[in-house]
Amino acid sequence: MTSQKEFKAAAEKALEHALVWRDDGAKLPAFPLATTAELRARFDVDLPAQGLNPEVVIDNLARAAEHGLVNNTHPNFYAWVQGASHPVGVAADILTSAWGQNAAIHQTAPAAAIAEEVSGKWVLELLNLPPECSFAFATGATMASFICLSVARSELLHRLGYDLELEGLIGAPNIQVFLGEEAHATILSDLRYLGFGRKNLVFIAVDNQGRMQPSDLEHKLGKCNGPKIVILQAGHINSGAFDPFNEIIPLCKAQNAWVHVDGAFGLWARAAPSLAHLGEGLELADSWTVDGHKWLQVPYDAGYAIVKHPEAHRRAMDISASYLVSHPDDGRNPSQFGPELSRRARGFSLWAVLQALGRDGVVEMLNRHHECAILLQQRLVRTPGIRILNEVVLNQLAIAFGEEHEELEKRNQMTAAVSQKIREENKNFALGAKWKNQSILRISIISQLTDKDDIEMLADSLLRAWDAVRST
Ligand SMILES: Cc1ncc(COP(=O)(O)O)c(C=O)c1O
Repeated sequence: MTSQKEFKAAAEKALEHALVWRDDGAKLPAFPLATTAELRARFDVDLPAQGLNPEVVIDNLARAAEHGLVNNTHPNFYAWVQGASHPVGVAADILTSAWGQNAAIHQTAPAAAIAEEVSGKWVLELLNLPPECSFAFATGATMASFICLSVARSELLHRLGYDLELEGLIGAPNIQVFLGEEAHATILSDLRYLGFGRKNLVFIAVDNQGRMQPSDLEHKLGKCNGPKIVILQAGHINSGAFDPFNEIIPLCKAQNAWVHVDGAFGLWARAAPSLAHLGEGLELADSWTVDGHKWLQVPYDAGYAIVKHPEAHRRAMDISASYLVSHPDDGRNPSQFGPELSRRARGFSLWAVLQALGRDGVVEMLNRHHECAILLQQRLVRTPGIRILNEVVLNQLAIAFGEEHEELEKRNQMTAAVSQKIREENKNFALGAKWKNQSILRISIISQLTDKDDIEMLADSLLRAWDAVRST
């Protein structure tokens, strides 16, 4: 048994380590230095027969993880589309763990339920989405889209008089799903979990930015008579591009299709007046996905599913049992909207981060990251052999090295060599990817601390690396 004294010692030790990580985090090398073998050797000790001293356990944990942590709280982290866990959100998360609330229903965690109710409402306000929407707090965008698409499946069948909750999927009318050729990989997983096979999917052509082509969608929608789901994107993983919602959503509505928008990071553009035009028209969709743990900097895990049809949302997701007692005065029951019963009280950290940033803080961060992306573009485009493949509309840059007339294989090798040089410098965390069959260096400017000085430093590193690669 752990006493209050031992809890205090362990908690203080954990805080000490947390402060060192967050204080020195910005000064540490960007890439983890520990090898897999070293990490395994440190963690893979014999399972102790007797419990150890709590303070020692926390020290052991910190030592075992040392240099095995990806430094995504670092301002020079550009490798994946990940947020940097806002310090106030982290502090709220410490309380969340200490409070140990089970956010299943209002009665199991009243404060957690109300924190979700209020912070969910704030998210709708920031995104300028209809206030009557319902929402669910999920682990991330993958599960948020899973929730939205579950609701879509249930509601479309309901509108046809088919009770999915009673009859089940076998024998249900076939639903066709339309999605862009460059939809995020997790959308395909979600569809698979929901029982949509490849034969139910209709892929729509995209342009050179990954945006869905309205004409192809119109043509393919016209060939399908049954119920339809159309999945759109606000923020392409490589280019940051947005589908042309104003053109596409009316086409979908004319066909009574359910429209879902995956806006894992890009949906936040709607919060900033200077970027909101990118997401214009998407308010006419039926459901949306957005992450807290990406651009909003809420600590992991934090994804939000938003649905315009609360009744359909509850019908598809409700978890109820006789022991899950409700009182008429209760607030919203979280488990009526998501697939989890027992879970972490995710509303506290969202509430805290939104309080800490305020609307102006959110807008300032979005604008700063966009301006940083433009600055990086400006610093790089003048150099022969550096090509920015995307229109820099948001925070993403897809960079390829080598002249267009050079052989693809050579260009790919040069892009990989630049990535390697950046890695060797170990000041900026950036990684490669493949897009449109070629190698790119993908820069995602999304970490809360990143500012123009960081971008100047990144541009200097990239130019230095390219110079070295070019001259070999
Ligand atoms: C457009 C898009 N959709 C979905 C996801 C998956 O998000 P998560 O990792 O939060 O599940 C991502 C992740 O980067 C994304 O960019």
